[in-house]
Amino acid sequence: MLKVIVCDSYEEMSKEGAKVIADQLKAKADSVLGLATGSTPVGMYKCLQEMNKAGEISFKDVTSYNLDEYYPLAPTHDQSYRYFMNANLFDHVDIDKSRTHVPNGLAKDPAEEGKAYDEAVAAAGGIDVQVLGVGQNGHIGFNEPEEELYAGTHLTNLTDNTIEANARFFASKEDVPTQAITMGLATIMQAKKILVLASGANKHAVVKKMVEDDRITTQIPCTVLKAHKDVILVCDKAAYNG
Ligand code: F6R
Repeated sequence: MLKVIVCDSYEEMSKEGAKVIADQLKAKADSVLGLATGSTPVGMYKCLQEMNKAGEISFKDVTSYNLDEYYPLAPTHDQSYRYFMNANLFDHVDIDKSRTHVPNGLAKDPAEEGKAYDEAVAAAGGIDVQVLGVGQNGHIGFNEPEEELYAGTHLTNLTDNTIEANARFFASKEDVPTQAITMGLATIMQAKKILVLASGANKHAVVKKMVEDDRITTQIPCTVLKAHKDVILVCDKAAYNG
């Protein structure tokens, strides 16, 4: 079941998203969170930092698993997703960093890394809430539009569209890694609850595909979320109305 909350602005979307996470942490202090990077959740992470500072929520007992990491890229690289998470959330809240996980962008054997990552998620009891952004091409994590999609965490090639969209963070398009390790569709869909954030008119086409008809296609991976029983889409008016 897909529940939709349409907000007036990016700021409101961020607050609504943070409320979902805060409610989860209040109900279960030792929650397992699945986390996303990218521009979209930055505001939500800021709200969570403020709630943590105000003593409203604690991350003390939280475990986290991020969706993806560029490959090959060192965790210390300023465009790595490990670096992003430290800078946008972990360094500013009371989380135990040893319980935060991001796929290893330098793994010698990415297939082995993927398998171990999924096993670790399962051993932690599974993900309670998975945060997702969505690509302009409908990707979730780095599950790009394809005829066939992977179930488990795996090494994937990034599409030109994604490399182009993410070039804004790098010195040039040529500097964007062409591969990533990403959770697969089963890893994502096994989360107990999924929170999707979408902001801006450039996400409208895929948001529409997610909410407006009943079809699922691997060519727009976010449409798979229709098969999940507890998804909440929090988006702004621009993403919802175009
Ligand atoms: C990030 C991720 C990606 C992004 C998506 C949207 O960890 O897995 O799927 O959520 O590319 O990115 P932004 O938010 O930058 O538009």
